Amino acid sequence: MQVIEKVREMQELARQWRREGYSIGFVPTMGALHEGHLSLVREARKHHDRVVVSIFVNPLQFGPSEDYNRYPRTFEEDKALLIAEGVDVIFFPSVEDLYPQNYQTYVTLERLPEHLCGLSRPGHFRGVATVVTKLFNIVMPHEAYFGKKDYQQFRIIERMVQDLNMDLKVTPMPIVREHDGLAMSSRNRYLTPQERQKALILFRSLELASDRIQKGERDAFRLTQEIRKFIQREVSEARIDYVSFVDAKTLEDIKTLSGHVLLALAVFIGTTRLIDNREFFLE
Ligand code: PAJ
Repeated sequence: MQVIEKVREMQELARQWRREGYSIGFVPTMGALHEGHLSLVREARKHHDRVVVSIFVNPLQFGPSEDYNRYPRTFEEDKALLIAEGVDVIFFPSVEDLYPQNYQTYVTLERLPEHLCGLSRPGHFRGVATVVTKLFNIVMPHEAYFGKKDYQQFRIIERMVQDLNMDLKVTPMPIVREHDGLAMSSRNRYLTPQERQKALILFRSLELASDRIQKGERDAFRLTQEIRKFIQREVSEARIDYVSFVDAKTLEDIKTLSGHVLLALAVFIGTTRLIDNREFFLE
């Protein structure tokens, strides 16, 4: 396994692989790897001759009051995990190499970022779309893997690739959870043991919603109100960012649950903002 830090070097290797006829699978990450990330890596390993994982904490996608500086950076542990998965290359660029002086080009989408996390994190998806575009141009993958944990991110990348005719396949992967249901996240490391317990409220809310929907509830407003009350009652110090039922493709709010629906949650537990979601396929 090779660690490549330079953009030029990564691009040359990718070009050489393509000349030799190898297929390239790619998993972009910000590191602090867990089983969620590794599930993507294993899928890439199953389907491609060469697998690249990028580790880059992208300053462009963090707001001024967000956790860029304290985001966990655990390169040596990450490297050991990726060696064990048989990854060919870790692409580990510096901020200066990706965003040199005088950098001024960005990728923005018109509508998908106007919902869910895009509302509470202005500029976040511009940062994500821009860095992912750059990474695609550097790694030149045939297929890239994204977790549905960050459902809106997946939809945005899917749309961007289609709109800009990028020549690769975007593959979504299921959410990987801890044994008690908490969605794995690098940010779970911020939680104290007490907060870790309280963080289960997100998964329990999805379970509550599934139960109500299974019993026939189809009114989005009524069910979001019930979930909000449930969260506040069970974890009084939880701060809800959003509880939303949206159309799973457009991410627009819906009133009645029908077709392909997404329930998305963002809740602060202490200072840690956690997200989770579940898809429903209804008549
Ligand atoms: P990061 O949060 O490190 O996540 C990297 C990839 O792992 C994303 O596709 C994310 O959805 C996926 N992932 C995270 N937790 C998961 C879980 N519990 N189950 C399944 N997949 C999971 O997302 C980013 O980094 C960045 O925004 C990035 C795309 C790298 C651009 O900077």
